[in-house]
Formats: sequence, structure tokens, C-alpha cells
Amino acid sequence: MDIVAERKPAERKVTTLAALTENQQAAIRLIPAEADAVVEPLEATRPNAIFTGRERFDAEQARIFRRYPVPVTVSALLPEPSMVMAHDGYGVPLLIARTKSGEIKAFLNACQHKGSKLLEDCEVHKRGRVTCPYHAWTYGIDGKLIGVARNEAFLNLDKSERSLVELPAREWGGIVYVQLDRGHAADWSQLHDQIAADFTALGIPDAFVYGRKTFELKANWKVILEPFLEGYHVQRLHAASIGDLFQDAPNIVDLFGPNIRQVSGRMGYVPAMLDEDPAQNIHKLVTHAYTAFPNCVVVTSQYYTSVMILMPRDVGHTTVEYFMLTPGAPTTDKAREVFERSYELILGVFGGEDFRAAEISQVGLQAGVPETTVYCGLESNIVRYYEALEALL
Ligand code: FES
Ligand SMILES: [Fe+2]
Repeated sequence: MDIVAERKPAERKVTTLAALTENQQAAIRLIPAEADAVVEPLEATRPNAIFTGRERFDAEQARIFRRYPVPVTVSALLPEPSMVMAHDGYGVPLLIARTKSGEIKAFLNACQHKGSKLLEDCEVHKRGRVTCPYHAWTYGIDGKLIGVARNEAFLNLDKSERSLVELPAREWGGIVYVQLDRGHAADWSQLHDQIAADFTALGIPDAFVYGRKTFELKANWKVILEPFLEGYHVQRLHAASIGDLFQDAPNIVDLFGPNIRQVSGRMGYVPAMLDEDPAQNIHKLVTHAYTAFPNCVVVTSQYYTSVMILMPRDVGHTTVEYFMLTPGAPTTDKAREVFERSYELILGVFGGEDFRAAEISQVGLQAGVPETTVYCGLESNIVRYYEALEALL
């Protein structure tokens, strides 16, 4: 048994206030005590068609999801060199690879012989090359065609011209972004350095992927996103699960371009708690919730971080990939048990409550009700986020 790992189990690593970026700390220091919080009333609406209309969906696809790089997965899913996986979440067949040198690359998951998918499942594989299942052409995970079965039967086949099609890819605070559309040069301008710095301080790039689950949801991606931008539903929709841990009060919000950071105190929070014990786990006092442009949600909990990527497939269909990240792999039975319970709880909350709410809302929206959705002061971040999106449409 590894004595060091036993004595310092990874799951006991805590994030302290001081470990966060200065910018995060400054935001946390602004969170009022629950009793002092004031909610500004708000009057705002959005037309039903932004959730149900074909025109709006197509505009979002063209001007956001195909125009800018989009998040595809977490860096932590490919922690080591020579790892590769297929990804289909956006309806574009992708291969995401961490090369021998540790760099992230993305390719179309399509063979240069006749287009066959090279990897059919979306599991992570540890290997330096991929072989096409059809006629066994072999590619390095740097995309180069390195082997052609019965090569001598091809006249003038230049292997160097049949590398996999590479797409621009980049890691950003532990999230892997890929430019899906080959028709546009990659424009990284919507990603923000502060978000990458925050995510790094939260340990996202070096985390361990404890759990990963894909949901196919019958709802528009924004209907699924909305509950992660507001606290109004928490004590109500989640009354039987986590509702009593969170206050209704508004949170401290910062926009970094079209990226939103919200920090809020948990139930009973008062600012003096921050300085009671410098070694304490900041996640016990404060919840961070981010919407990283355009469709990646990050929510912190006491012992793990949730990352969700909401991939629009159609007006009323979204693929959501959920990742539960922990500071390390569980090294004890007790840790395994805690992580397992947390995983079940969070899947029940997000899957059984938030995602369910989204699906039942979509039913009404598609029946034309309401004609305009209406937002209150506890939902103002939704409106701010929509304004940022609308500026790009
Ligand atoms: S389609 Fe891949 S080797 Fe033929
Ligand atoms: Fe929720």
C-alpha cells in the first residue's frame, strides 16, 4: 500500500479562500449576510420563440456554435499523453486526442479512405494510434496516416495528403474547446483569461473524473441552462433534496465578456465566517456557479465540482454531458462511499429535478405557453446572459 497516499488522501485536499484568484476572493468578500441581502425587482421577458423557434435555433448554430470554438469535454478526461476518444455531442464526429507530447488536438473522426468513423464508442482509449475498422488504415494520434493495408495496390497514393482533418483545439482552464466549423478561422475572443484563472484555482485542470454521464433531453439548451443562472427555483424545485442548503438571496455576479460568474453564500452565511479559519474549505461557505461561453456550466460543491456541457442538437433536443470532478481518485473505502453517495445525490438533483423541470417546461413552451417568459429579480442573471448572447446573434 502506498503509505503517502494513505496518509494524505487526495480527497482531503481542500480549496481555501487564499487558494482562489484575487478576483474570486474580491467577489466572495462582497457576498452579503443572508439577512442583509436585497433583491431588486425586475421586469423582463423573452419571446417563446427563442426556445421553440427554428429560426432562432439556426441563428444560434450559425453565429455562435459554429462561429466560435465550443467546449467538448474536460481536460481531466484525457489526463495522460497518448489518450484518445471519440466525441459526438454536437452531431459532428470528433476525435479528441492528447498527443505523445501532451498537447490536445481535435480531428474529424472520419477516415481519409472512405469516411468511416475510426473510433465508434466515446470511451477514452490509451493508445498512440487508431486503426480504421473498415480497411485498417492506421493513423497516429497526431493525425498522420502511418499505415495503409496492401499499400502496393494503390497507384500514386500520397499518405501525407491523407492525414486526418484537424480542427483548432485549445484547453482553457481545464475545459477543451474545439472549433467545429472549418469555414471559420478559430476566434478565441469570447474565452476569458479570468475564467481560465478561476477554473485553474478551483483545480479543474488537474481534477479526477469520478463520474461521467450523458443525458439526452427533450428541451431547448437554454431551458436547461436557465436553472443554473438563477436561485429562485432552488428552495422550491429542490425542496426535498438540497433546497435547505441555499438561500434565496441574490449572488455576486461578474460578467467576463459573455461568461458569467456567480458566487453566493450557503444557508446562514455571514461574511465573518470567511476569516474564522484560514485552512477551512471555502466550498463549505460559498457556492461558485459559472456559465462559460456559450454552454458550459460549472458548479462547486463541498467535495466535488460539477461540469456540464449542454450541446444543442435540435430546437427541443439537447445532449448534456455531466462530469463529477474530485481533487483525486478515492484512495479509501470511506472516500469511495462519500463520492458514490455524492454522485447519486447530484445526478438526482440535476437529472431528476433540474433536467426534469426543463423537459416539462419545454412541453408547455412548445404548446405556445407562455407567449413570453417572465423573469424576476432573482433571475436577473438569465437576462444578463441572454443579452450577451443576443449581442452575438
Ligand atoms: S474507410 Fe477507413 S480504411 Fe477504408
Ligand atoms: Fe437547480
